[in-house]
Amino acid sequence: MKEVELACEVFRKLLEEQLARIAGMNGEKTDFTTKKQVTIGVIDGDGIGPIITAQATRVLETLLSDEIAAGSIVIKQIEGLTIENRLACGKPIPEDVLAAIKSCDVLLKGPTTTPMGGKMESANVAMRRELDLYANCRPVCIPEKNIDWMFYRENTEGEYVLGSRGVELPGMAVDFKVTTDLGTRRIARAAFEYAKNNGKTHVAVVTKANIMKKTDGRFTAICHEVAKDYPGITVDDYYIDIMTANLLKEPLRQQFQVVLLPNLYGDIITDEAAQIQGGVGTAGSANIGDRYAMFEAIHGSAPRMIERGMGQYANPASIIKAAAMLLRHICRTSAADRLEKAMAKCPVEVRSDGTGVTAEQYTDALISQLS
Ligand code: IPM
Ligand code: MG
Repeated sequence: MKEVELACEVFRKLLEEQLARIAGMNGEKTDFTTKKQVTIGVIDGDGIGPIITAQATRVLETLLSDEIAAGSIVIKQIEGLTIENRLACGKPIPEDVLAAIKSCDVLLKGPTTTPMGGKMESANVAMRRELDLYANCRPVCIPEKNIDWMFYRENTEGEYVLGSRGVELPGMAVDFKVTTDLGTRRIARAAFEYAKNNGKTHVAVVTKANIMKKTDGRFTAICHEVAKDYPGITVDDYYIDIMTANLLKEPLRQQFQVVLLPNLYGDIITDEAAQIQGGVGTAGSANIGDRYAMFEAIHGSAPRMIERGMGQYANPASIIKAAAMLLRHICRTSAADRLEKAMAKCPVEVRSDGTGVTAEQYTDALISQLS
């Protein structure tokens, strides 16, 4: 059948591309302890993005004012990553925008709209791939419930890497899932290093290896290989279905510390975890690579809030938490500590139904709490 032949041709090309991708992974890390000037790129995004990103930028400008004046930190606004411009250029990240992004060291990014169906790839997925941001770190912390979780989601492979490159035959559609040894080893290493450096003693490896035998099977095996270098840390395997239940189960859930998982499961379970913390509007997220890193909220662009004229009630806490992670990543630890302390005691709250303060009022209150 001609369609099968064509699909095989596509598959051959995809495999070759993936092998080339692995060959390009080089592992050279940016060292922020010695870097003389750090450029933070700010990308507004779509929908509520510009509203919440503007507030997070104010916070960064306040915390880093001395360094900005001295020139050791540069905050650079990056224009053009809007859904309108992306559709007009026919690219998830227009070339000039990508060049501007690559001129920065780290990025603070508002949510971008992902068109459903069609050919246009998500800007997020494209950015994670272009900058090779392989570790998606998503903390969820609820001290009063004794919950302190850190999710390490693989961010460049799995179902995502070829997510918009599947094939269709008459009466059938096929997508691809890719797990590489190097790709798995580096996310596992990142998760175990985090555990070791933060006094954590347990890593849960979460897959569906009973069904996805090749990809998830390999992921699990490599995580256990890496674990051998961390004798003080115990590792348990869970399947993703029971893990979604376990996050709701007391007292079991309190024992989870670091959760290490492939891309799609990580995407899904981190929304659940964020909801347990109080909603996706409360969670920040770091996308870390060796050269670049990007920090964002875990929620979407909420176009309906804009349509209803409620944009000013978008909660900036998520992206401000991401800004704190950014500060920590560039080794501005005391600024990160100051910000996190102020957030914990900020007396006001933004609510999407408009019954709380606005994003701007919240940020005013937060800035006044900085000590
Ligand atoms: C996330 C988001 C993205 C994802 C979307 C916007 C492509 O849900 O960061 O969790 O699926 O990774
Ligand atoms: Mg998600």
